[in-house]
Amino acid sequence: MATPKDPTITMDGTRTTSASEMLQTIREGSAEILMSDHVFYNPVQEFNRDLSICVLTTFSRIYQREKKAQQNRNGTTSTDEETNGTEDQPPKPGIKHENGLRILEALSATGLRSIRYAKEVPGVKEIIANDLSKSAVESIEKNVKHNEVEELIKPSFNDAMTLMYMSTKPDQRFTAIDLDPYGHPTRFLDGAVQSVEDGGLLLITATDMAVLAGNTPEACYVKYGSIPLKTKACHEMALRILLRCIETTATRYGRYIQPLLSISADFYIRVFVRIYTGQYACKKSSSKQSMVYQCTGCESFTLQPLGVLKPNPTEANPQQIKFGIPTGPFVSSRCEHCNHQHHLGGPIWSAPLHDPDFLEELSRTVESEDAKRLMTLKRISGTLAVVREELPDVPLYYALDRLCGILKLESISMLKLRSALLHAGFRVSYSHACRTSIKTDAPIGVLWDILRCWHRIHPVKPDRFLEGVPLTAILAKQPARDYNLGELHPDANPPSRKESLTRFQENPAAHWGPGTKAMLMVSENRMLKSTQNQNKRKQRRALRKEQQDGIGDHEPTNDVKVTSPGTSPERKILKKDEGDIGIEEGTTIPEA
Ligand SMILES: C[S@@+](CC[C@H](N)C(=O)[O-])C[C@H]1O[C@@H](n2cnc3c(N)ncnc32)[C@H](O)[C@@H]1O
Ligand SMILES: [Zn+2]
Repeated sequence: MATPKDPTITMDGTRTTSASEMLQTIREGSAEILMSDHVFYNPVQEFNRDLSICVLTTFSRIYQREKKAQQNRNGTTSTDEETNGTEDQPPKPGIKHENGLRILEALSATGLRSIRYAKEVPGVKEIIANDLSKSAVESIEKNVKHNEVEELIKPSFNDAMTLMYMSTKPDQRFTAIDLDPYGHPTRFLDGAVQSVEDGGLLLITATDMAVLAGNTPEACYVKYGSIPLKTKACHEMALRILLRCIETTATRYGRYIQPLLSISADFYIRVFVRIYTGQYACKKSSSKQSMVYQCTGCESFTLQPLGVLKPNPTEANPQQIKFGIPTGPFVSSRCEHCNHQHHLGGPIWSAPLHDPDFLEELSRTVESEDAKRLMTLKRISGTLAVVREELPDVPLYYALDRLCGILKLESISMLKLRSALLHAGFRVSYSHACRTSIKTDAPIGVLWDILRCWHRIHPVKPDRFLEGVPLTAILAKQPARDYNLGELHPDANPPSRKESLTRFQENPAAHWGPGTKAMLMVSENRMLKSTQNQNKRKQRRALRKEQQDGIGDHEPTNDVKVTSPGTSPERKILKKDEGDIGIEEGTTIPEA
């Protein structure tokens, strides 16, 4: 593995390299980056980069296996085996693999991500580290040299879109394309879905969470073609809006997506999807998308798919299916629980967010010896454990604190509620996107019934029963049956919780946020002054609310602390699943 050239460089991540250049150095993974002004670096995204390395490492293994299987079918063999990679000796990171991945990092900034991919992902043929900014490309060139990865990384000075459109011919496509823009990635999707190989991988970040989480539905519709809803499940809804946007962009070209892993973290979302070509599979697309009705009173939601698949077996083809459209609407004009009207959001991707086979293989990567050097490994393992426990066929979720809040009920413990659902024969899981999430195949009516039973034991104060409020309508009804609230179900406490894994991120670093073109997110004194005073009122409010809700009594906190070089000690910040949408108030995200 290459080591930095300059012997004067120290490893503390903040020292200058030479008096003449006065550059800061940042060490992350096996890369060392010479920082220059006006080039973007966000230390908080280390988790994003570490996770991407695990995903690419896993994908590289799968890609080699699939390539070998294809060669066996075609009766051809690889010329590369003698030089790098056989079954007994898999390809090594840092060494060019002729039959390996061609990766495009379309928006590269310092080149850090590309350099880490070059040094930490095995089976790489070539990485194009591209940026539109001249100073960024100069920084990439400097860093590629400094890290001695010239053989693997080609710096490129181009508009990402132009570069991708110039690479749409089948023999010029990339095996993987990484899009990590400021804010929304949608303008790059059209080029990306056309310039990635069949079966290739897209790694896409979106940081415009305020838009995706429903603050400005009209802006979300303009960017993503979907209406977001203000819901506790906004982080998962954001993932599903992005996935649906990639899918509809791909299907225009006879291609479709297979999500491998979809993550909501900190102030952004990140999806890893494979793109395949197939006209027939594209026809199933409408059945993987749904509109979402959400009650404006009790927030109950109902999904209505855009298309349905019906079995239509014939003698010649017993597996044949028919494509149809459902009749609806799936809700009445008034909510059956509280009599309020509905909002209509979507369309969203309503098929699974992750691929279970890929997750299994990814877990092997994360548990491997090589992964031990990743600084955010603990958090990756914890997140992955929750992701693997998520119910794959249940889109969105409710949040326990919100349900109790709507009914003004004393909080019921998560384990009690989960037990009641399991005793009644339903499935339940958390979502990695929210600490208090309840993902269940039980209808919302069952959740209200369980809370009605809880209300019998812990009655709501009589003065809360006002006319027209959801709690009055919901608690006026008797539960259809009794639910077991006394006995802990053996599966109520999932392994990720029992083992106290780092499941949810809570205490981020100072200046936590996506960053903008205008700031260099390296050290405190380089932050825009305005951001230093942001969010104070909101944080105080959240802390007060947290104390009132007593959520902490029910859910263990075992959260990761994200630190960044040169920043002050972590400050307590609003938990993202306590109502915050994961972005600092007042932060503006400029157009890329
Ligand atoms: C968020 S930064 C990328 C961070 C980087 N991927 C990392 O992990 O550190 C976004 C970068 O995109 C570049 N950029 C913006 N629009 C672009 C475009 N149309 N084509 C290429 N690069 C662009 C900016 O100059 C900036 O360096
Ligand atoms: Zn309702």
